[in-house]
Amino acid sequence: MRETEPEAGKRPLGVGMVGYAFMGAAHSQGWRTVGRVFDLPVEPVLSAVCGRDGGAVRAAADRLGWAAAETDWRALIARDDVDIVDICTPGDSHAEIAVAALEAGKHVLCEKPLANNVEEAEAMAEAAGRARARGQVAMVGFNYRRVPALALARRMVAEGRLGALRHVRLTYLQDWLVDPEFPLTWRLLKERAGSGALGDLGAHIVDLAQYLAGERVAGVSALTETFVRERPLVDEAAVASGGLAAAGGAAGGAEGGAGVGVEGGSAGGIAGGTRFGAVTVDDAAVFTGRFPSGALASFEATRFATGRKNALRLELNGADGSLAFDLERLNELSFHDHTEPAASAGFRRILVTEPDHPYLEAWWPPGHGLGYEHTFVHQARDLLHAIATGAEVKPSFADGLSVQRVLAAVEESAAKNSVYTQIPA
Ligand SMILES: NC(=O)c1ccc[n+]([C@@H]2O[C@H](COP(=O)([O-])OP(=O)(O)OC[C@H]3O[C@@H](n4cnc5c(N)ncnc54)[C@H](O)[C@@H]3O)[C@@H](O)[C@H]2O)c1
Repeated sequence: MRETEPEAGKRPLGVGMVGYAFMGAAHSQGWRTVGRVFDLPVEPVLSAVCGRDGGAVRAAADRLGWAAAETDWRALIARDDVDIVDICTPGDSHAEIAVAALEAGKHVLCEKPLANNVEEAEAMAEAAGRARARGQVAMVGFNYRRVPALALARRMVAEGRLGALRHVRLTYLQDWLVDPEFPLTWRLLKERAGSGALGDLGAHIVDLAQYLAGERVAGVSALTETFVRERPLVDEAAVASGGLAAAGGAAGGAEGGAGVGVEGGSAGGIAGGTRFGAVTVDDAAVFTGRFPSGALASFEATRFATGRKNALRLELNGADGSLAFDLERLNELSFHDHTEPAASAGFRRILVTEPDHPYLEAWWPPGHGLGYEHTFVHQARDLLHAIATGAEVKPSFADGLSVQRVLAAVEESAAKNSVYTQIPA
């Protein structure tokens, strides 16, 4: 049976996906797999994928398992066989596509960060609120919540295993921009991406901090820096056809990487025949924050940590214990129970592959670990579950808006050389 046909007895839900490069491939994997692993009353049908180049989007549809291809996202939204619109494009198109899809009565899954600024995110959250009243679901793609070890960490914090939280410490380190010859792709342009490492990597760790702590950051002090201020301009067609892959073909480099080239990059100098344009986003952001409970938070997001490929690490310290996690060892969670006698207490490794760990009941026997791609299967599972049951969806567009407010406060604080900046509730 093709993924484009529903399983007998299950309510089919048509998916229409916009964008088919890194996240498009990862989401396709999630949609193709979810119904084969989790027992759900609904079955996703991969109805249509949308891109701007007709030939390329048809090839992507064949490769990724989509029944049809569209070259205009408005046409995708208008299709009767599309119930869920899955947005896998750069941030400059999230708001327009998401609001149009919600107003057309569709459920929406939108990649992170929710938008390129707070105003767009507010409009999206308002549209999602109106749609919720009509029974529609809108989720933002903070997929790391769906790493079983991190869902377990949240469960343990909520159960009080750490006691009162004192420190919430997160770093997200990559190194794909270290080479000054790396081209000026969309991720390096404010009008396309909103911000740099801050919105790309920082958004994930802000969401995780708020998810794990169970409360929202109240204020921040921040520094940001752009280490390489001009980069070579690239020909979008060359990049889109695979002429430039930082690592792993369509995927680009890890969370970041190539993918698509520059459109509208402000032209700079010419050196050795290569034209350069200005980088208009941060390369790194370092910030501290406060939670209303009194816990302190610290964050570091950078694309310049040589040797670190996708190192999302965190440690939570509470009065009664601590938890530590490293995405590069994502089946493991370290736990220190501070209520144990000091003589035998200490960090121990929990191998998060037991059937009563989050999401694991549907997968392999204990010890047969999961990977990055499974977070997208779990994301699809949670979205479909919310649609089928009417349960509240998490992370919602309101959660995405709260992250956007933190990102804006970080930029405001950094512009004032780290002045503590309050975040509106
Ligand atoms: N959740 C994660 O871990 C994660 C990882 C990477 C990227 N992202 C997010 O996913 C989004 C996409 O990033 P990516 O890495 O997949 O980028 P990418 O450059 O690999 O792919 C972007 C896709 O969008 C398409 N596109 C751009 N504008 C379009 C338009 N107007 N209409 C139709 N298609 C259009 C491009 O052709 C391409 O297929 C971004 O918001 C990014 O922040 C999330």
